[in-house]
Amino acid sequence: MASEAPLHVVTGAFGYTGKYIAKNLLDRGLRVRTLTNSLHRGNPFGDAIEVHPLDFDSPDQIVDSLRGAVAFHNTYWVRYDYRGGSRDFGYDLAVENNKKLFDCAIRSDVGRFVHVSVANASPDSDWGYFQGKAQLEVDLRDSGLDYSIVRPTVIFGGPENVLINNIAWLLRRFPVFGLFGRGDYRLTPVHVEDVAQICVDAALGEPNTMLDAIGPETYTYREMIQEMTRAMGLRRLLVPIPDSVALLAGRVLGAIKKDILITGHEISGLRDETMYTGTEPLGTRSFKGWLQTEAATLGRQYCNDLTRRR
Ligand SMILES: NC(=O)c1ccc[n+]([C@@H]2O[C@H](COP(=O)([O-])OP(=O)(O)OC[C@H]3O[C@@H](n4cnc5c(N)ncnc54)[C@H](OP(=O)(O)O)[C@@H]3O)[C@@H](O)[C@H]2O)c1
Repeated sequence: MASEAPLHVVTGAFGYTGKYIAKNLLDRGLRVRTLTNSLHRGNPFGDAIEVHPLDFDSPDQIVDSLRGAVAFHNTYWVRYDYRGGSRDFGYDLAVENNKKLFDCAIRSDVGRFVHVSVANASPDSDWGYFQGKAQLEVDLRDSGLDYSIVRPTVIFGGPENVLINNIAWLLRRFPVFGLFGRGDYRLTPVHVEDVAQICVDAALGEPNTMLDAIGPETYTYREMIQEMTRAMGLRRLLVPIPDSVALLAGRVLGAIKKDILITGHEISGLRDETMYTGTEPLGTRSFKGWLQTEAATLGRQYCNDLTRRR
């Protein structure tokens, strides 16, 4: 890659969304540097990208890593509050760290701050995920940085995906699948490559925009599970169960797998249609079409979210 090409910095190129943003940038001939602490996950890009640490205790180091970047694509966030001794993490810390990234971007004079938020982020939410994201959207808009805020719904695609893969894993192993309630709440899944494309387009387009990143198809949760069972050639009984039972089953399986399968807020968030916006889809890749190509491998292995953070 020509070192004269414009530099884009992206968090988490060895994780999920950041990996696809990095790939999209490289495909466009741009220079890519990643900030990550996940070297153990393997570098699929080799020498094509530069790798720097993401150390929130060393802001000067982050400023140096961001200097000269035309855009910084920030995916950094945590999925849940976790108390695990030396490995504690949670929404409050993630908000604090995101603010540090805003400050570092200002100090290094980054051209554009592309911030991956979440669809329907709201200060009124009782879920720290959506409340924290809403707070950061306001902070970024007030920061003076040129920004693009990208708000995805539930993301699918790629072998790194946790949520959809682990639903498929459950469907493969058990004859009965418990829906949270009747499963009649809507969601609009978006492919990870579409999210990446939206982020990079946003970085190169007009500043100070806020975009929902959603796919072209809307399903109810029940319909989505039905599409998955059909594509995998399975016949499964879909049974409405109370959230408390779903949560208990998730906890038991989580204890066996040493993972956090699902949280109460994730269940209530789905039921409250936080993964549905009703806005114009910017993503083009079909969930149903993707299932056709991935059904043979989907859910064959359990994807342990917590273990890969070690
Ligand atoms: N996945 C979805 O369905 C979905 C839906 C809507 C919005 N989003 C948003 O999209 C963005 C990317 O999500 P993703 O699922 O692709 O995440 P990811 O790749 O697993 O992680 C994104 C970044 O956050 C860091 N990170 C994640 N958990 C962490 C923890 N516990 N402690 C320290 N660092 C942590 C990762 O660090 P490393 O580089 O060290 O791994 C990486 O830099 C997030 O802002 C998320 O809120 C995701």
